Amino acid sequence: MTSSDVPSVLVLHGPNLNLLGQREPGIYGSLTLNEINALLEKEGRVLRLGVRCIQSNHEGELVDTIQQAAATESGLIINAAAYTHTSVALRDAIAAVEIPTVEVHLSNIYRREPFRHHSYIAPVAIGQISGFGYYSYILGLHALANYLENA
Ligand code: DQA
Repeated sequence: MTSSDVPSVLVLHGPNLNLLGQREPGIYGSLTLNEINALLEKEGRVLRLGVRCIQSNHEGELVDTIQQAAATESGLIINAAAYTHTSVALRDAIAAVEIPTVEVHLSNIYRREPFRHHSYIAPVAIGQISGFGYYSYILGLHALANYLENA
């Protein structure tokens, strides 16, 4: 909980998502990461959730951030980007902190190359939202809000 008693949610963006807006816009859309974060913060105010957004290109930094989140965050929304398909370390960090987690992807990973079809995160997440562009994050925030309300 934050000092104002509004539950706080961490939105974690993985590698290359800092390039949104210019990175393969046909797949990932034209919004920048800052624009997506602003939409999430706005939606958080509607849902009465604090939203804190962090991006990193570094696996260890993402692990550190998840570990630290245990002390302050009620929920986690993660787009682990390419680490979705490779990282046992991120999976283990989420399992260790036991923060309710929603996995999101801008693109529909199941309509893409076979190496994107497997997620290490999915088994430790409440659920996964994939394929709705930036709106996957908004849907993820709503799903997490609903989960936290009923927890
Ligand atoms: C992604 C899908 C991943 O396969 C890819 O490596 C990304 C972004 C998505 O949001 O669609 O970087 O997580």
